Amino acid sequence: MKDLDQKRGFTTSLGAITAAAGSAIGLGNIWRFPYTLGQQGGGAFLLVYLLFVFAIGLPIMMSEFVIGRRSQRNTVGAFRTLGPAYRRWSFVGVLGIVAAFLIYSFYSTVAGWTLNYVLLSSNGALSGKTPQEVSQVFSTFTSGTWAPLLCQMVFLVLTAAIITMGVQKGIERYTKILMPVLLALMLLLCLRSLTLKGASAGLSFLFKADFSKLTGGSVLSALGQALFSLSIGMGALITYGSYIRKEDNLFKTGLCVATADTLIALLAGIAIFPAVFAFGLSPASGPSLVYEVLPNVFNSMPMGRLFAVVFFLLLSIAALTSTISLLEIVVLWAVEELHCKRTAATLVVSLLIFGLGSLCTLSFGPLSGFHIAGYGVFDLLDRLTATYMMPIGALCLTLFLGWRYPKAEVREELTNNGKLKAGYFRVFYFSLRYLAPAALVIVLIMGILE
Ligand code: TRP
Repeated sequence: MKDLDQKRGFTTSLGAITAAAGSAIGLGNIWRFPYTLGQQGGGAFLLVYLLFVFAIGLPIMMSEFVIGRRSQRNTVGAFRTLGPAYRRWSFVGVLGIVAAFLIYSFYSTVAGWTLNYVLLSSNGALSGKTPQEVSQVFSTFTSGTWAPLLCQMVFLVLTAAIITMGVQKGIERYTKILMPVLLALMLLLCLRSLTLKGASAGLSFLFKADFSKLTGGSVLSALGQALFSLSIGMGALITYGSYIRKEDNLFKTGLCVATADTLIALLAGIAIFPAVFAFGLSPASGPSLVYEVLPNVFNSMPMGRLFAVVFFLLLSIAALTSTISLLEIVVLWAVEELHCKRTAATLVVSLLIFGLGSLCTLSFGPLSGFHIAGYGVFDLLDRLTATYMMPIGALCLTLFLGWRYPKAEVREELTNNGKLKAGYFRVFYFSLRYLAPAALVIVLIMGILE
């Protein structure tokens, strides 16, 4: 990111797509999506989720790209760079920084678990176990004190090291190869899962929409999940937008990222739910779901141990490309607005994250009795960010670009000064101005009142 910052820009359109997709694709797709869908009742949630991704998420993603590419600035500085009159909107960027800080805190807990699952699968601690024993391994590990804290710390150090060294270009080079491998492994997992006995119950859970299960709360969490998974609603992609080349097509970039992100989430669902039912587990078990289900699928495969190691390694890397961007949002702000040194900023922010993050990690163990407003620290941060802060941030972004910023300039940025055709523009602008803000307000109110 440092390199990019100095050079200000991706060199290819594929570079832009991979970086944005790297931020979007992560634990949100493979860990958070299946467990949220499982808790919210399945197929109906999926439909609402897909609707939100393409009708609201894609226009918001494009809006962040527009703001970023036009201003060439970080999330907070972007607004006042667009014009002194927009200075007041900088609070949207500040909200994003706070959200990134909170998300990174609980995200690093799960990233730490993933790292440990690389170890657990390689030393055979999960092999040949019954589904109950596999679940036991998870709860013994996560309810401990030092092991999960250590894993989290290792992950934080890895991310910080990459951010201070500014080896984003190296990361990009590897993710371009590694992410397709992750995709291939996911396909393999889906195949195995679908051929398990009793798999069809999982498929109908995932794809049969039972709208009676849909509540205001589940619609709100589908919205939160869509925003979380696409990394939008908090200005993260403003920074990436500022790196996209002037001649690239922002609509195409957004469409590719949203499609890839959705594909990975769907594959995760297809890999997990048939197995949930085949092994007689509960789809609503929460954040533990992926870690309790997938080891069983690997156990039922030839060379399963090897595949498990590779899978959890790739999942850790997918998480890493997301945490890099989460940390970068906060660090870039500290560097540009508070004039901190990059290394010092990275160190201080990482330490603060570890402070809050360790509370998240321990909320599965020693601190499990500690609740704020009825939630453990982990659940609280997860809900606060995805369900409230990101939709509110998204609402502010749509109000800014749809109502405050001149339409002609939005069109100019999306068409690269009229060079590109933009047949989608009317639909896009309609969503930005009316559909997205209205839906965001309604869903927020419905979800809060419930
Ligand atoms: N989208 C990421 C994932 O699915 C998580 C995430 C949420 C994120 N908000 C972000 C990543 C902002 C980077 C920036 O795992």
